[in-house]
Amino acid sequence: MNKRTHYCGEITREHAGKNVVLKGWVQRSRNLGGLIFIQLRDRSGIVQAVADGTRMEAEHFKTAESLRGEYVVEILGTVRMRGADAVNPQMKTGEIEVYADAVTVINASKTPPIYIEDGVSEQEAVRLKYRYLDLRRPSVQNILRLRYRVMKSIRDCIDTQGFIEVETPILTKSTPEGARDYLVPYRQKPGLFYALPQSPQIYKQLLMVGGIDRYYQIARCFRDEDGRADRQAEFTQFDMEMSFVEPEQIQSVIEAVFRHVFKTVVGVDLALLFPRLTWREAMNRYGSDKPDLRFGMELSDVSETVKGCGFTVFENALANGQIVCAICAKAAGDLSRKQLDALAEFVKTYHVKGLAWAIPQEDGSVRSSFAKAMHGDSMEKLLSAMDCGAGDALFVIADQKHTALTAMGQLRLKLGHELNLIDEKQYNLLWITEFPLVSWDEEAQRYVAEHHPFTSVMDEDIALMETDIGAVRAKAYDLVLNGVEMGSGSIRIHRSDLQARMFETIGLTPEEAQVKFGFLLEAFQYGTPPHGGFAFGIDRLVMVLCGAESLREVLAFPKSQAGVDMMMDTPSAVSDDQLDMLKLKIQKSL
Ligand code: AMO
Repeated sequence: MNKRTHYCGEITREHAGKNVVLKGWVQRSRNLGGLIFIQLRDRSGIVQAVADGTRMEAEHFKTAESLRGEYVVEILGTVRMRGADAVNPQMKTGEIEVYADAVTVINASKTPPIYIEDGVSEQEAVRLKYRYLDLRRPSVQNILRLRYRVMKSIRDCIDTQGFIEVETPILTKSTPEGARDYLVPYRQKPGLFYALPQSPQIYKQLLMVGGIDRYYQIARCFRDEDGRADRQAEFTQFDMEMSFVEPEQIQSVIEAVFRHVFKTVVGVDLALLFPRLTWREAMNRYGSDKPDLRFGMELSDVSETVKGCGFTVFENALANGQIVCAICAKAAGDLSRKQLDALAEFVKTYHVKGLAWAIPQEDGSVRSSFAKAMHGDSMEKLLSAMDCGAGDALFVIADQKHTALTAMGQLRLKLGHELNLIDEKQYNLLWITEFPLVSWDEEAQRYVAEHHPFTSVMDEDIALMETDIGAVRAKAYDLVLNGVEMGSGSIRIHRSDLQARMFETIGLTPEEAQVKFGFLLEAFQYGTPPHGGFAFGIDRLVMVLCGAESLREVLAFPKSQAGVDMMMDTPSAVSDDQLDMLKLKIQKSL
């Protein structure tokens, strides 16, 4: 076999007259009688080769005639300029072609079940089943290259800041990050299990106890939760931890990493400091803890404005300690009744009872779902407070504060997309700080950690721990990019007694805390440095950078929404022998 001399996509007019040896896949082959045009593809692109029956040995021409899509071939030939009328400006190599001397089939191919070409839409299930063919598409390869450049750029930047990468175990004890664990049976003692790590959280804290001071890892994490566009069961984090730090120092390291990645990978200059919003402010103004600030349309609490307005829905809500909040969608006044009804249905999925709307008209009248119920000048007062004029649309929700804000935040996002208010080219990064330490879980009827139970309390709120745990703020922060949660982190608890107290707060008895986290409580008794850290999702970052709709597009071998690897067809059954060895029995009813 001859040694490859060039990649297909790299041949230009400069190579004219040169002999080349190319290897790749047949993208397409057109037989025009005495001439066969072969488009040859490799990872660098496509080049056109020409097999000329009058010039080649008959045997090679015969081979060229036999070529089909995805055959793997070797072509020996000479580069020559195309005639002016044959130049293809759409192709990088469109000025030249390779005049073939010899064509050899290295390996044949069945007809592929998908088109290996960009811009052809194929069913995702088929793409995932034949992912190794899908990977041949240039757009898929570009994403993997971008992903690699992101990882390299992260490593380059963090290395200059004194961090070392330390790998932590995959077979471990579960860490509570809020999802279910994947369990792995322990053969030597049936009945015992490892868990796959939801994140390296506890290990990285123990590395701080161990004096590592600055740790990072590009870490695989595993969470048994339902798949979504921005969630995979198995994903990758950039994870870091530092000792003797304040939140600002951690944030500044992360800002430097993001600046470096954006500069080197997409050529975008990010600000030195990213803006900060407290969680409370983000909820009040945008109804979300991951607000998309690429457009305005802020929420307003209009409870004071509508006091005594006469509309019983608002009046009753206020009497019950609820709030009335509103947004004004500029130039959205031409929404039809059907569209408005659909928006009302949409907000109901966020557990509010309804959506009131008002659309002021040019003639001074108001098209509205509730104007009739408003007394006197209450409607004018409300519209003017919201700066809502003719051609605009006002939306109002009355409910429990958190519920009303969340539903309105979702409506804001939906309108932002539907009214085309979002500049897709913009990258908007911000920190959300001062998260609540815990939130109330209705189902479990107890408080759960908002981040994870290793998060420390803001100094100002320590006294509140005993009196109003729901109001306590944590030293926790999230990073948000274009309305997507990129990552989160916190300053950790580093004292054994405070950690034990936190476990108690989230409903663990001292015995349970001992069984689950005894090793950590003990470790904290041997001179643990104050420490804190952060982790962000690499898959999510790559997804935003390449404008993908789902994480599945940015992984080489993604799982389907249902968590199934459709290519390997797994999860799959295992043999009885394997089950016997682990002393496991599958319930008959399954
Ligand atoms: P957290 O659980 O917030 O924090 O995770 C950090 C980031 O990881 C990404 N991520 C995911 N990406 C894809 N699929 C998933 N299922 C998934 N779950 C999370 C998100 C998220 O913001 N140990 C803490 C960090 C710390 O406190 O230092 C942690 O894991 O981008």
